[in-house]
Amino acid sequence: MFSCDITYPSSPSAWRLRSIARTLYSAAVSQPSSDPVAVIGASGALGFAVAIRLGRAGVPVAIGSREFARAVETVERARQMVPDASFTAHHNEDAVRAAPVVILSVPFRNQSETLANLRHALSPGQLLIDATVPLAAAVSGKATRMLGVWQGSAAQQALEMVPDGVRVVSALHTISAASLSDPEHPLEQDVLVCGDSREDKREAAALIEKIEGLRCVDCGRLEMSRTTESLTALLIAVNARYKAHAGVRLTNLPDSLWE
Ligand SMILES: NC(=O)c1ccc[n+]([C@@H]2O[C@H](COP(=O)([O-])OP(=O)(O)OC[C@H]3O[C@@H](n4cnc5c(N)ncnc54)[C@H](OP(=O)(O)O)[C@@H]3O)[C@@H](O)[C@H]2O)c1
Repeated sequence: MFSCDITYPSSPSAWRLRSIARTLYSAAVSQPSSDPVAVIGASGALGFAVAIRLGRAGVPVAIGSREFARAVETVERARQMVPDASFTAHHNEDAVRAAPVVILSVPFRNQSETLANLRHALSPGQLLIDATVPLAAAVSGKATRMLGVWQGSAAQQALEMVPDGVRVVSALHTISAASLSDPEHPLEQDVLVCGDSREDKREAAALIEKIEGLRCVDCGRLEMSRTTESLTALLIAVNARYKAHAGVRLTNLPDSLWE
């Protein structure tokens, strides 16, 4: 019987080295293995939908919540929908410590508080995929209006709050939880990915594209999140008008977007 000791690296390249080591270890024992992805806010609409879609794609998911009991309940719900997937329940901090990639899916009004609470759990080299949208609904305003964020966007606020060396990209703003949470619903949508490092965006895209029907498009630097986040407000208005769950699809792009 082989065992694999999992410790949590703290240097910027350590997560990548650990990932390579895990891959080699898996190959050596001929067992499929991959690192879990932590979803913070997985008890909520978008986080749960992302978790079950990733689980369905064979990605182990560390379900994070502020309350362990809510994480357990969320795992039970997820297992009912995708019985063969790997879901584990954690406090948010433990979910973050268990995974090299963290998806943040909390309301904008709670984003800074959440990241402040996770500050000591996040390590240099980890990749944070931020899905936060600063809708005015966060302060009892209209969901079709955006809040001004001093840093420019929710993603830039996230970058400002994480410890040095944590890599931040933004994505998933235009995917509706309603369509994502129905595993039988065909998606055929684009995910607009922003970030300051092409390599970080490529890593996020490789994960997100495991979800059938999603294609990731590199939309430029993290500051472009101001625009991609605001598309959520537009889609909310369109979806209310047509009683639909429309997403975004860009046309006339090359076949291969991540070479
Ligand atoms: N819903 C969509 O279709 C959609 C689409 C694109 C983007 N987004 C964006 O994704 C983010 C999450 O959206 P959502 O609709 O999934 O939100 P939600 O259902 O209202 O909440 C997500 C989770 O955030 C956590 N949370 C952390 N701090 C909280 C606090 N102080 N009060 C309440 N909840 C708190 C909760 O998890 P615990 O209680 O378990 O900690 C909650 O389940 C938002 O920024 C939203 O704009 C949503």
